[in-house]
Amino acid sequence: MQTRDRLAVLGAGHVGPVIARLAIRAGYPVAIATSGDPEDIALITELVIPGAQPRWASDAIADADIVVLAIPLHRFTELDPGLLAGKVVVDAMNYWPASDGVLTAFEDGGSSEIVARRLAGSAVVKALNHIGYHELEDRARPAGAPDRRAAGLAGDDQAAVAAVAELTGRLGYDPVRLGGLRAGRVLQPDGPVFGQVLTLPEFERAVHEDARSLS
Ligand SMILES: NC(=O)c1ccc[n+]([C@@H]2O[C@H](COP(=O)([O-])OP(=O)(O)OC[C@H]3O[C@@H](n4cnc5c(N)ncnc54)[C@H](OP(=O)(O)O)[C@@H]3O)[C@@H](O)[C@H]2O)c1
Repeated sequence: MQTRDRLAVLGAGHVGPVIARLAIRAGYPVAIATSGDPEDIALITELVIPGAQPRWASDAIADADIVVLAIPLHRFTELDPGLLAGKVVVDAMNYWPASDGVLTAFEDGGSSEIVARRLAGSAVVKALNHIGYHELEDRARPAGAPDRRAAGLAGDDQAAVAAVAELTGRLGYDPVRLGGLRAGRVLQPDGPVFGQVLTLPEFERAVHEDARSLS
């Protein structure tokens, strides 16, 4: 089934192609981009993400309703905030000093809040960041499946949160709306659900029991 929102997935490494594949299966038109020439990923896209359109990042973004950032956080400042203005932006990135190096700006607090500050013209939603790419693909299930799992999201713009909740649900997970971007800190690498693939009740319990959700 075709849906209204067009997706641009930035990043064709580990998690970008998985998100793109799940989205195509869910009926979203999907473009995928790296920082370079789309020709460089044309063949691999055809092979591993059939149906996705490799494009220059700027073109993919321009035509998209939802832009998924599936790039390493240390590359984030390469993106021009002006290109992303007016878009729903899914921040699937994590601050991971072992691979990102120490990024002083991200040392304290919520990484998506910092991302959103730079993308002030975009509606940033933290989502699709806390499940490893293998599991994200293998554990995806249609709505109502008995073994369907949950995935959290957080954002300050309610319309954007609704669009990303729909995306999350269609990709194969029960979407859990946590609240504003600050509440999305529980999805980060030091949070209670990071790297976990939990059922909805397990997810809600883990978040509820976490001290961050009480502050
Ligand atoms: N790996 C996982 O299981 C997983 C799961 C959920 C979330 N995440 C998060 O998702 C992010 C990406 O992780 P990954 O493991 O997929 O990384 P990765 O395998 O290193 O892939 C990164 C991709 O981003 C592209 N890229 C870099 N800078 C770009 C830019 N400015 N514009 C467009 N594309 C750009 C790279 O291509 P070029 O260098 O050719 O541009 C590459 O295709 C990280 O923040 C990670 O924490 C990862």
